[in-house]
Amino acid sequence: MTITFFELLGSVIEREINFIADHLDNSVDEIYQLIVEEAGRNQAEWYSNQVPSLNYHSPACRLAYLYIVAAANSSTFHHVLESNQDLYQYVMEIAKERHEIKICAFGAGPGTELLAMAKFFAQQNLGHSISVDFQLLDKVEEWTSSWYGIRDQINNSFRQLYGSNRSKWPIIPSGNFLACDVTQLDRIPYLGNVWGQDVYVINFLLSEVFNDDPGLRAFLSKVAQFAPSGARFVFIERRGYMWQNRMANIAKESGLLLSAFTESKGRLEEDPLALGDVYDVLQHERTPRLTWDVVYSIGIKQ
Ligand SMILES: C[S@@+](CC[C@H](N)C(=O)[O-])C[C@H]1O[C@@H](n2cnc3c(N)ncnc32)[C@H](O)[C@@H]1O
Repeated sequence: MTITFFELLGSVIEREINFIADHLDNSVDEIYQLIVEEAGRNQAEWYSNQVPSLNYHSPACRLAYLYIVAAANSSTFHHVLESNQDLYQYVMEIAKERHEIKICAFGAGPGTELLAMAKFFAQQNLGHSISVDFQLLDKVEEWTSSWYGIRDQINNSFRQLYGSNRSKWPIIPSGNFLACDVTQLDRIPYLGNVWGQDVYVINFLLSEVFNDDPGLRAFLSKVAQFAPSGARFVFIERRGYMWQNRMANIAKESGLLLSAFTESKGRLEEDPLALGDVYDVLQHERTPRLTWDVVYSIGIKQ
């Protein structure tokens, strides 16, 4: 008895499409077509070898992200949680002792990291629920709707699978979306909630910031300065020396003890058919990404 990324995302996408169709005077078919266009545009920007210019403010662009990329990116973080022994033991110890864990994602987008936590704890079968307090930081405020959509869908699915008594659910998600450019140090005083987290995740943010931005290094150094000793900083990025270098520079400036770099290639073993209507309509033009090819490293606050 468990959840799948595609099933969760299918419901989130369907609700967002219907909402947009109602409010923006587009037909559902027009929205499908816009998703295909935005998916092509996103892909070209990500591989343009310069700062990508993405339309995240547009609903169709965010829907394209949810359809094409969100499951694959959730599965990379899920894979790191499962397979990195240090991170696995750290997270499991906290979960068993405190029955809660605090996690903060920088450049969180729709909150794919929460999807990964939900699937991870559902598979661990701890026999009790874990409160997952999730702080998302992203400069694109419009992601808020997808984050609440994902959180609500996790709640719906757990209610269906485990009943209405939340103490029987694998996780009870809570948290906030904080609109914030993480290269701007002057935003720090407004972010009371990001201190004191157990895990900080930087999942596919570095390639969007793209440059070796001193603002990002300064921001993360400040966060690391106030993080509890032992907190884990999980850096995941597409494979490449340039990204390893970025991680190493951030860790050095923040005083984090960085693990060796691990390269990982893998495949999400889920059926995208579970996405439902959006996949039925779009699969001949665009299919969701199922594979990852990344490098990751874990920094530890001393
Ligand atoms: C590729 S997405 C990754 C989203 C999520 N972490 C995942 O793995 O699916 C990159 C995210 O970083 C955000 N982003 C890019 N530059 C940023 C900045 N300077 N400050 C905050 N967020 C930023 C974008 O809005 C986008 O949501």
